[in-house]
Amino acid sequence: MFATRNSLKLAARSFSTATPQQSKVAVLGAAGGIGQPLSLLLKANARVTKLSLYDIHNTPGVAADVGHVNTLSEVTGYSAKDQDGLKKALEGAELVVIPAGVPRKPGMTRDDLFNTNAGIVRDLAQACAEVCPKAKLLIISNPVNSTVPIASEVFKKAGVYDAKKIFGVTSLDLVRASRFIGDKMGKIVDVPVVGGHAGITIIPLFSQVKGLTLSNEERDALTHRVQFGGDEVVQAKDGLGSATLSMAYAGARFADSLLRANSGEDVLEWAFIRSDLFEKEGLEYFSTYVKLDKDGVKEILPLPESISAYERELVQKAIPELKKSETKGASFVA
Ligand code: NAD
Ligand code: LMR
Repeated sequence: MFATRNSLKLAARSFSTATPQQSKVAVLGAAGGIGQPLSLLLKANARVTKLSLYDIHNTPGVAADVGHVNTLSEVTGYSAKDQDGLKKALEGAELVVIPAGVPRKPGMTRDDLFNTNAGIVRDLAQACAEVCPKAKLLIISNPVNSTVPIASEVFKKAGVYDAKKIFGVTSLDLVRASRFIGDKMGKIVDVPVVGGHAGITIIPLFSQVKGLTLSNEERDALTHRVQFGGDEVVQAKDGLGSATLSMAYAGARFADSLLRANSGEDVLEWAFIRSDLFEKEGLEYFSTYVKLDKDGVKEILPLPESISAYERELVQKAIPELKKSETKGASFVA
């Protein structure tokens, strides 16, 4: 059974001014649509003592702007023009958040971004493997179902792979599911979402929400809305990109969870990670409920026994899709 997590408290904690702790967080792709608001939210997080911003352009302006926010953390901006800018940005980082890469336009799938983003993530992961191999990597760049295997393969090749420290950020799916069910229940509750981060691989587990009753039609419609919530935003932005603000919120929340775990708190989260839950099916990566500690993933919890037959079927349908994406990512590096 899934324990309840305090998502609202998490949001509040992001703006807490307590808890001095030395934590350098690097954002790669910091001048982008996600990177800018995410950097702002990280600047507002008292657990972050050094914020290091890297992008191929515009970073000095973003760093100067965010740097005026009156929390005590130090902000430094690096761009591709600076000699060793990327390496300097990564030195001593405890968390590296990666929203670098191109977003979708209407009519595209996340996989359509592979040709551009695979190389970006590979190169950034390579730099992380060299400069801060013990940092936790939070990968936002799409397609997450492939970019996480890409980063993992890069770390393996460099001989510094630690599966506990590489995360695909799926928090936006949880935020969306919670928001959509919030409308139905009149209050905000946590809704587990497992699988991956693309279309039918996104699987909300409404059966695990206490007090929630859905007709089959409502369940189907809400499942579809969570699975294709990203498309809703892509269409509304009409060619100007995909979710940025809600993603920044979700990414900052996930970063805060890792920082809290690092300071000794027991933290439960959902993330797309290396997992042996579906080893028999030949699947290596799956997003599920995890316990975090200072080293990253401490324990991967199994899917709850009580998930519905409908949800089990969704998981079975997602497995071949997930396998395709992970093989594509891993082969790209090989
Ligand atoms: P954006 O185009 O606004 O910003 C991307 C930034 O990355 C730009 O500033 C660009 O200069 C930078 N960049 C490109 N190559 C780089 C490199 N080699 N090194 C450093 N920076 C580099 O895009 P966005 O809206 O911020 O989205 C970024 C990515 O996040 C996209 O791939 C998008 O699909 C993905 N995304 C994922 C989720 C999720 O839930 N995981 C949610 C929303 C968006
Ligand atoms: C999302 O879920 O909003 C992101 O993955 C961006 C996208 O392309 O939909």
